[in-house]
Amino acid sequence: MSDVVNGVRDHYRAIGLAERLKRALAAFGPEDQRLAPQQLAGLDQFHTRGLLATAELAKLAGITAKMSVLDVGSGIGGPARVLAASLGCRVIGVDLSEAFVDAARYLTARTGQSGQVAFETGDALKLPFSEGRFDVVLLQHVAMNIAHRARLYGEIRRVLKPDGRFATYDVVSKRGEPHYPLPWARTPATSFLLTEAATREAIEGAGFRTLTFHDDSEMAKSWFAQLRALGPPPSPNLGVVMGPDFVQLAGNLGRNLMEDRLGVLTAVFETAPTNA
Ligand SMILES: C[S@@+](CC[C@H](N)C(=O)[O-])C[C@H]1O[C@@H](n2cnc3c(N)ncnc32)[C@H](O)[C@@H]1O
Repeated sequence: MSDVVNGVRDHYRAIGLAERLKRALAAFGPEDQRLAPQQLAGLDQFHTRGLLATAELAKLAGITAKMSVLDVGSGIGGPARVLAASLGCRVIGVDLSEAFVDAARYLTARTGQSGQVAFETGDALKLPFSEGRFDVVLLQHVAMNIAHRARLYGEIRRVLKPDGRFATYDVVSKRGEPHYPLPWARTPATSFLLTEAATREAIEGAGFRTLTFHDDSEMAKSWFAQLRALGPPPSPNLGVVMGPDFVQLAGNLGRNLMEDRLGVLTAVFETAPTNA
């Protein structure tokens, strides 16, 4: 495994996460009480605009109950659980961080969804799935950790069915260098941002045709402004997962968006014939 991948894994290694989650979830009731996936949104939707963004992306991708969905870089599984609960689809999540995958499985047991939602440890650059398996692949706030974009999007293309769709919601670079630390990287060593145009070029180059492509930076800015106005986030929140400096990490993302150093992109693609 490369130094970069090890660096990304270290960033999300989340020592003691399972115990922290158990303690934090005591706020919702005893261990044997079933939780609703939406209850966990403060700590398991690890991207800008939380639940709302996941629901919008799923709608744009046209996910239905019959579909088999892969969530690449699934974090602790919030998007996967909410999509399965709201749309009835089957979802598999894959993530580099073993601690996150363990946490995702634990939370999925707590929501009673283990029959419909599953998680595996794996690298997005070498997805542990056979060709043509999924109707939809989702990628939310993950690509900025991945330098080899051609390989990333090529792997996603490989595991999609011939009429499959790829939906992404990611952070892009706009102007100048961002301020660090950020939620996905405490230093530039594990951050690999591309512009909107370069992202589109890399995705289309991997055998996709664009269906929807929009800059959601203004919505992201408003969301951060609202959060700031509300003061400290209610518990439990992503600090449980990423540690007490998460407020600073998220604050820097907000600042970079406000200064137009970074932006947020939503895009959906269909498969196109590859040159291979
Ligand atoms: C900011 S979190 C987003 C998690 C989730 N998509 C969500 O929106 O809640 C980024 C996730 O990408 C995962 N990740 C980063 N690089 C990866 C790779 N090469 N393969 C698989 N997962 C990766 C991290 O472990 C982390 O869980």
